[in-house]
Amino acid sequence: MAQVDILLGLQWGDEGKGKIVDFLAPKYDVVARFQGGPNAGHTLEFDGHKHVLHQIPSGIFHEGILNVIGNGVVLDPKVFQEEIEKLKPFNLDLKKHLVLSNKAQMIVPTHRILDQAYEQAKGDKKIGSTLRGIGPTYQDKVARRGLRIGDVDEPDFDKRYEEIKNYHLRILEHYDFEFDITKDEEIFFNAIETIRSFDILSTEYLINQAITDNKAVLAEGAQGSMLDIDFGSYPFVTSSNTISAGACNGLGVAPRWIGEVFGIFKAYCTRVGSGPFPTELQGEDGEELRKKGNEFGATTGRPRRCGWLDLPALKYSCMLNGVTKLFMMKADVLADLDEVKVCYGYEMEGKTTDELPLYLEGTDWELMFKAFKGWGATKANSFDALPSLLLEYIAYIEEQVKAPIEIVSLGPNRVETVLKEAFTA
Ligand code: IMP
Repeated sequence: MAQVDILLGLQWGDEGKGKIVDFLAPKYDVVARFQGGPNAGHTLEFDGHKHVLHQIPSGIFHEGILNVIGNGVVLDPKVFQEEIEKLKPFNLDLKKHLVLSNKAQMIVPTHRILDQAYEQAKGDKKIGSTLRGIGPTYQDKVARRGLRIGDVDEPDFDKRYEEIKNYHLRILEHYDFEFDITKDEEIFFNAIETIRSFDILSTEYLINQAITDNKAVLAEGAQGSMLDIDFGSYPFVTSSNTISAGACNGLGVAPRWIGEVFGIFKAYCTRVGSGPFPTELQGEDGEELRKKGNEFGATTGRPRRCGWLDLPALKYSCMLNGVTKLFMMKADVLADLDEVKVCYGYEMEGKTTDELPLYLEGTDWELMFKAFKGWGATKANSFDALPSLLLEYIAYIEEQVKAPIEIVSLGPNRVETVLKEAFTA
């Protein structure tokens, strides 16, 4: 029997998952998204093109891979249709290579409106949501009134849509928020036709059959562990379980079939939206990192907040996910800095700890840093050829986190990826 490997982000999202899924995809028969929705923006760059995928799994550009949008995902028909349109020039046989779970929850136009109305009402306590309707859709799922993708084939789909819409309109009466969904509804029903033209299946059977048939499955996470609904910096989190356990729920795979857990992290930290960020660099230092790393959101274009690597947070993520291999991204961004810092602990009430408190914000603590030197630009194509200062940085993280760094990324392109000799997926 084959196994399901999981690839996920260990920080606050935007670690570079799209690039790595695309890089590893040829080793897999199935690539499946298990949570999140169009709040994600997975960026892939190759052959002079830059693609940003929000809903479609990042294995889509490879022949012979089946891409699955799993039951744990929230799917917006509008965004899905836009993405399908954008992929048309690339002549991919999408109907053959992409299937949708009949149990994935559907984002309807009023979910997006609710997201905006809720955020506006929060004033200075905003989550900094991507406003893609993610939270309200997961809310409806848990409240057991959501629409599922498989419902598009039910004879009373339009009636069910009206019911949930009217429910949302009643809520919206309590908010001082103006909107008009006439155009959005037109686009929505148009997009529903596109959804109907795809295979809508009980994908849990398909994935378990793939395991039985000895096929290799890669579960592609979205967002990052520090945005997990249970373990992230609550309430400044997304509304799904972004950690490895979410792959079991979000695809219908039993824990016994999970193999490798690939944890992706940046050589530094970023965060988009509000919420605590202990190692954040303010002012010019943060600006410098933002410019060097081109840190602007792939989905919203918002500038990302930037800061040093936070090892206690990384250790926490590795523990929650059971990470077996680490992939470090964007090492090139720090290359020409005079000093690169890493936070290795927090000092609270006279004691040093690397355990995260319940609230990261408002905590009376001091961060403890170790300083490294920038390693200089490199075009190395093997681990041995990496600058010794970078190898020192890598060794320190491995020793602290107790997991091996097997891939180092030195740029956005597929070819700017360095593998440890022993690495096999
Ligand atoms: P939501 O998931 O759109 O409700 O946003 C909740 C929080 O998660 C906000 O702080 C967002 O900026 C953040 N977030 C959601 N999706 C992503 C992502 O894919 N990358 C980075 N941050 C994200």
